[in-house]
Amino acid sequence: MKIVHVSAECYPMAKVGGLADVVGSLPKYQHALGHSAMVIMPMHQTPFLSSHEWELIQESSIPFSNTTLNYSVIKEKNNNLHFELYCINVVGFFDRPNVYGYDDDTDRFLAFQIATMNWLSKWKNLPDLIHVHDHHAGLIPFMLRHCYEFQHLSTIKTVLTIHNAQYQGWMPLQKADYLPSWDKWKSGLLEWDHQLNPLACAIKCADKVTTVSPSYMQELVNDSNGLAYLFKNEKGKCSGIINGIDYEVWDPKTDHFIEAKFNVRNLEKGKRLNKEKICAEFNFDSQLPLFIFIGRFVTEKAADLLPDAISRAFEQFYGKFNMLILGNGDPLIEQALSNMHQKWFGYYHSKIAYNETLSHQMYAGADFLLMPSRVEPCGLNQLYALRYGTIPIVRSTGGLKDTVIDFGNDDGFGICFNQATVDDIVLSIGRALDLYNDNYKVNQIRKKMISINNSWESSAKDYIHLYNSI
Ligand code: GLC
Repeated sequence: MKIVHVSAECYPMAKVGGLADVVGSLPKYQHALGHSAMVIMPMHQTPFLSSHEWELIQESSIPFSNTTLNYSVIKEKNNNLHFELYCINVVGFFDRPNVYGYDDDTDRFLAFQIATMNWLSKWKNLPDLIHVHDHHAGLIPFMLRHCYEFQHLSTIKTVLTIHNAQYQGWMPLQKADYLPSWDKWKSGLLEWDHQLNPLACAIKCADKVTTVSPSYMQELVNDSNGLAYLFKNEKGKCSGIINGIDYEVWDPKTDHFIEAKFNVRNLEKGKRLNKEKICAEFNFDSQLPLFIFIGRFVTEKAADLLPDAISRAFEQFYGKFNMLILGNGDPLIEQALSNMHQKWFGYYHSKIAYNETLSHQMYAGADFLLMPSRVEPCGLNQLYALRYGTIPIVRSTGGLKDTVIDFGNDDGFGICFNQATVDDIVLSIGRALDLYNDNYKVNQIRKKMISINNSWESSAKDYIHLYNSI
């Protein structure tokens, strides 16, 4: 099967969150299953772009409102990603370092999608299936079916995967005029709640819709930032497929970012050496349990609760643990987390950054990973933590509910709580401290975690099965 993924992010070319990890690994596993899988994404100006060799594949132009935009398509030359990576540059829109966050994001992703379709319409060997990810590629299933100039593509099947339904790409309805001319009888497909809503449009137009965990799919039917009714209507074509992780990138046996490589046999020693290294870097006493939080500082991740929760935990259990935070996002949260350095000096540190290397070192050296998310479609950090023998402390929601079982149950290995509140977080830190005192139990849990298989192998097959069904 010939599969094309379209996404705003793909690791290692450009990463903001888990979307990049998924789009950078699923195609690789599909390739290993004997399919041709490729990725099309915007040409963000990232270090990966400048440090790799590219081949020019296409130069052309698209009409866009009352102007014409030139675009080019380049392909990564060495193909050591194990899938073909194509980047589209729409002149004027992607000559920037960040993936999102510009005033004209709406036009940028609109132009990216139109250019993608324009290029696809010139292909001689058409793909069997186009797999679009999140709202940035959400208008593609519509264009494929209802724009006159793409009629010859209309038999290609489409799948939408929702990594986060909070963001929908809303824009004024008038923007529909930017699309290459389309069947006006179909205008209802573009609209949701008097706006042009690319995510809603993709839910209506794609042949199948998936979310990145079964529990998140169930939650969306009740609460999905205005789309619950739509999810109820389209339930028949929706399903949840849990994400896997890239077992080559995330492997404590071979990880070149970490101090000491380890496996299930030398797990205790490996964890200890990595912990000593990271504790030395941040001036922590490595005898104390090390808690970490890694992620974007947004309310979905409940990062706004961290300053209070951590302070309360330090007041209650002072001198009994260390906490290291890595991430960035909301400036107010960044500020609040930085302000705590002085007060809890020697036990607390926050690094306001996106840092892939440090994140590997943190998973390898920490004892507990905190994920109090309000919304978590799948969550990959808990899966990385499991692979590196770090016990996840999670709020049971979405993918966290599907992948972490509380250690109070027979087959459990993590710490789960129900409410995204300061109280529940502090209580869970307390439970973790009690558990840490039981060295035998901690080691048993670590062995169990590291033996769980969360690689893409089985989920990649589930996607192929889904593709075959259409
Ligand atoms: C988004 C979600 C996260 C998920 C990731 C990959 O970042 O917030 O839960 O794991 O996408 O699907």
